[in-house]
Amino acid sequence: MNNFEFKNPTKIIFGKDTIAKLTEEIPSDAKVLVLYGGGSIKKNGIYDQVKTALKDVEHLEFGGIPANPEYSVLLEALEVIKAENITYLLAVGGGSVIDGTKFLSAAALYEGETPWEILTGGKPTLKGMPFGTVLTLPATGSEMNSGAVITNRETKEKLAMGGAGLFPMFSILDPQVITSIPRRQLVNGITDAFTHVLEQYMTYPAGALLQDRFAEGIMQTLLEVAPSVLKDPSDYDAASNFMWSCTMALNGLIQKGVPTDWAVHAIGHELTALYGIDHARTLAIIAPSHYQYNFEAKKEKLAQYAERIWNVTEGTLEDKAYEAIEKTETFFNQMGIETKLSKYTDSYEGTAEIISKRFTERGWLGLGEHKSLKPEDAENIVRMAY
Ligand code: NZQ
Ligand code: ZN
Repeated sequence: MNNFEFKNPTKIIFGKDTIAKLTEEIPSDAKVLVLYGGGSIKKNGIYDQVKTALKDVEHLEFGGIPANPEYSVLLEALEVIKAENITYLLAVGGGSVIDGTKFLSAAALYEGETPWEILTGGKPTLKGMPFGTVLTLPATGSEMNSGAVITNRETKEKLAMGGAGLFPMFSILDPQVITSIPRRQLVNGITDAFTHVLEQYMTYPAGALLQDRFAEGIMQTLLEVAPSVLKDPSDYDAASNFMWSCTMALNGLIQKGVPTDWAVHAIGHELTALYGIDHARTLAIIAPSHYQYNFEAKKEKLAQYAERIWNVTEGTLEDKAYEAIEKTETFFNQMGIETKLSKYTDSYEGTAEIISKRFTERGWLGLGEHKSLKPEDAENIVRMAY
């Protein structure tokens, strides 16, 4: 097992009817900006619950943060924060609203020339404006980590940021919010969380037995509850296990002491930036090709995953490893997720070259657990996924 340090300061408030606990977490003298997305919270009752909870707290609202949070919209919110002397942010939404709020938390205290530098400068954010979240969509894990991904439609870029200053102070996880989530987003959530585990697991054996079992436990739980969640999102037992699995998949715990990959995400973000494909679907497009392309480096863990997650008992290590890739792709397909880029866009020719060029320009010359995946390898992987 590798050396590690682990600190996660986010307080989780989990369970039925917990949105009412909001006021216990926000300082009484705070001036709060409530941030939300395209309006789903106004239809499913979450907005009303938040407003009731905040009745004695001074607050303003900023709605309209789109999926794949858009930089130009966030700059409008930043103006409100500055003009109104906001001291505390409250994200009510999925990964996009929470990520947008993390960007604002950093930007509110940023002293450089333009806030876009937070995304291009490569420096971790160590201090941000305090914020909490009310999670409405289990998927990203953003509610309990310090990372964010921001999109710039003008430059067709989607870049990551983060740092120890960007953990939410608290996150409220009421599994009842799942009831109103459309199937497409539920499927995305399952796929995103499952791939988060894969990115921190599908590398090489590192003698981290407990981390492997944690990771496998999350994947097994997702597989176990997925049919129930999709059949009836109001099934509270299934919803609560789904929600907690998504949070645990990316709150830092399972990546400690082990190598991690993240190439699937790095390549996937480019597909969202170029074609607007849902985040989770980009992962389902890239993951199977990535594991095939890097088969030799990953085959031990692929075989372990085949045995422990998919109950594959027959064949050589290589046979099992191949079957694991197939089973993963079939799992995505069976939920209705296409795993080829050409199913999402007709103009896929040339995508591989564009991504490879972008990685070269950014100096991303070695991705993956061995830092050996070159831009030309990313190019080959994307081409395999056409
Ligand atoms: O905008 P509204 O109206 O709220 O509708 C949203 C949106 O259209 C809707 N929705 C959310 N909760 C709902 C609901 N509809 C009905 N009922 C509810 N309870 O779902 C749509 C998608 O929401 P979004 O927040 O975009 O989805 P998700 O949570 O999948 O977030 C995706 C973003 O997170 C980033 C992705 O790149 C993408 O930009 N990620 C963030 C990560 C992190 N911070 O750790 C890690 C991930 O790998 C990912 O990159
Ligand atoms: Zn993801």
